[in-house]
Amino acid sequence: MKAAGVLALIISLSIVAESKLYTRCKLAKIFVKAGLDNYGGFSLGNWICMAYYESRYNTSVQTLLDDGTVDYGIFQINSFTWCRSDRIRQKNHCHVACSALITDDLTDAILCAKKIVKETQGMNYWQGWKKHCEGKDLSEWKKGCEVS
Ligand SMILES: *[C@@H]1O[C@H](CO)[C@@H](O)[C@H](O)[C@H]1NC(C)=O
Repeated sequence: MKAAGVLALIISLSIVAESKLYTRCKLAKIFVKAGLDNYGGFSLGNWICMAYYESRYNTSVQTLLDDGTVDYGIFQINSFTWCRSDRIRQKNHCHVACSALITDDLTDAILCAKKIVKETQGMNYWQGWKKHCEGKDLSEWKKGCEVS
């Protein structure tokens, strides 16, 4: 009984730790449903392109930066300003645990991304977007995805 319990725990932990790699079109559909298309004036292509260059659509990416802060999840949202982790005092503008930004459920990450666009007035927060997506023809990013 005890051994089975331990085994069950190990299995469930490995399920939790498993990363989720979204496909481009699955993300496109989720983004549309969540109201990201044209949010802040940024078309759907901007969001898909940004997520690709920030995380390659991998929800569990965590990047430790030189200053000790961490970028979390599909949008690589930074712990210093936007979410709450246990490491250091943080501003937590999104009122969310950083760990909620690396789950398969993108609800919290999307809410936080919207907040970033509102508070920073645009998508310049994302280096990947600035470098690869800004000002480009982004219609290709939603091609074949059955989103309008
Ligand atoms: C997603 O990112 C995590 C954390 O960096 C990594 O361990 C995992 O291998 C990645 N998954 C894929 C499918 O690339």
